[in-house]
Amino acid sequence: MKKKSFVLQKIKEYLSNKKFAIQRRIHPGIREQHRLDSLVGPRGYWNELQEYQLNFLKSKGMQSHHTLLDVGCGPLQGGIAFISFLDSNHYFGLDIRSESLVEAYKQVTRYDLIYKNPNLILSDTFGKIELNGQQFDFIWASQILYHLEPDTIHRFFEAVSLHLKPGAYLYGDIIGAPNKVVQDSHWNGFRFYLHSFSFMDDAAREHGLSMKHIGQIGDYGYPIAIALHTNDMFEFQKIRT
Ligand SMILES: C[S@@+](CC[C@H](N)C(=O)[O-])C[C@H]1O[C@@H](n2cnc3c(N)ncnc32)[C@H](O)[C@@H]1O
Repeated sequence: MKKKSFVLQKIKEYLSNKKFAIQRRIHPGIREQHRLDSLVGPRGYWNELQEYQLNFLKSKGMQSHHTLLDVGCGPLQGGIAFISFLDSNHYFGLDIRSESLVEAYKQVTRYDLIYKNPNLILSDTFGKIELNGQQFDFIWASQILYHLEPDTIHRFFEAVSLHLKPGAYLYGDIIGAPNKVVQDSHWNGFRFYLHSFSFMDDAAREHGLSMKHIGQIGDYGYPIAIALHTNDMFEFQKIRT
């Protein structure tokens, strides 16, 4: 019985992929959206994931006068909504891939948001070099921490602890349970790492950050049709000394 429903599921996925592949060939808009989706993850959820990202940070108190650093911003799935919402000069997005930032610039133009002066930064140091110690009210690390190997998680915390204002918040998610992700599998050349709570907590503390588990991303409007909705979300703050 289980095997039969698995096979049916696979056939459905195959037919849906085929249908989508044909639509993509015919319709330039669908092709363009597919290209953007493939730079951020699951295809077909751009608007929902954009809404989830903005609503999440608003629910945590982000207002238009706040400043935001979006780590691993990609082609601005969340970024476009953040830039629209925040005051001019208050959005900073950084990514390690120039390909994503090329798309990000195109999105800013497409949505007439140049007047907001978003700052898009190519960085493999989480901004440690490029941001020159600049501090933010919020730092957002959506769907990226599980692509960072343990040493890089340390480099990440080291950098973001420099970029958090006192009392400011960093949010980020790791793979939760149950999930279908296999340790060391890949997405777009990035490996998946299944970090434990205790590893994240120890690493954060080593770099002067406290960590609090605040539920799974599905609790905050991340589409439950995507397997990653069980990802665990954490809130980090500088430990007061
Ligand atoms: C799954 S996508 C998520 C994009 C975006 N945060 C979102 O939620 O829509 C992961 C992003 O992290 C970026 N990335 C991966 N490793 C990185 C690193 N070490 N530094 C900066 N960005 C990185 C990738 O290029 C990609 O754009």
